Amino acid sequence: MKKLTLLTLALAFNALALTPEAEKGKAAIGACLACHNAELSPALAPPFYGVQNKYKQAFSDKAMFVQAISDWAKHPSEENALMKRPIQKLGLMPAMPLPDEMLAQISAYLYEEEFEPPCTHWANDLKNSTASQSKGQGKGQRMGRGQGKGQGHGKGIGQGGNHDAMIQMKYNQLCK
Ligand code: HEC
Repeated sequence: MKKLTLLTLALAFNALALTPEAEKGKAAIGACLACHNAELSPALAPPFYGVQNKYKQAFSDKAMFVQAISDWAKHPSEENALMKRPIQKLGLMPAMPLPDEMLAQISAYLYEEEFEPPCTHWANDLKNSTASQSKGQGKGQRMGRGQGKGQGHGKGIGQGGNHDAMIQMKYNQLCK
């Protein structure tokens, strides 16, 4: 019986374990967390929870995901960004020209890790957007801008007013 429990535990931990490559990435991720730390307020970069989601949607295959994150870190550019909104709010990320091997390890870690929902970050985001609305900046204006831009890029959802609604929904689901 005791043996069985130990075996079950071992298997459960194994399922959660990172590959050795991702373990190395985890050890090096501090270079990125200087900005991508989800607890920073004000935020300096989008938390990896959202970055991982976005990149997994675009690159289902791990090898492509790793390639895309590595490429991004070496050459961030507005054209190649999957997330347009953080650039508008925070400016373009500076290049992180680390050795390829290290970037592959960091990217493998970003693929494998199960990040906590960035509740503090979302709460601040929502607070700030409510603050700017009540200053009379105009909800209509924000939404109008969001929709216009969204259509132009062929991505309606996730911009402007829709963005706030989406964050609110995720916050309610995952943080309350
Ligand atoms: C000096 C601060 C800073 C550091 C250090 C930093 N980032 Fe970023 N990162 C940002 C900011 C700001 C954004 C949002 C603006 C943008 O996309 O350029 C961002 C966005 C991203 C994105 C989303 C790009 C997209 O497609 O929209 C990825 C992926 C990313 N960072 C990966 C990394 C990795 C990997 C590292 C470490 C090797 C790293 N970042 C280090 C500031 C930083």
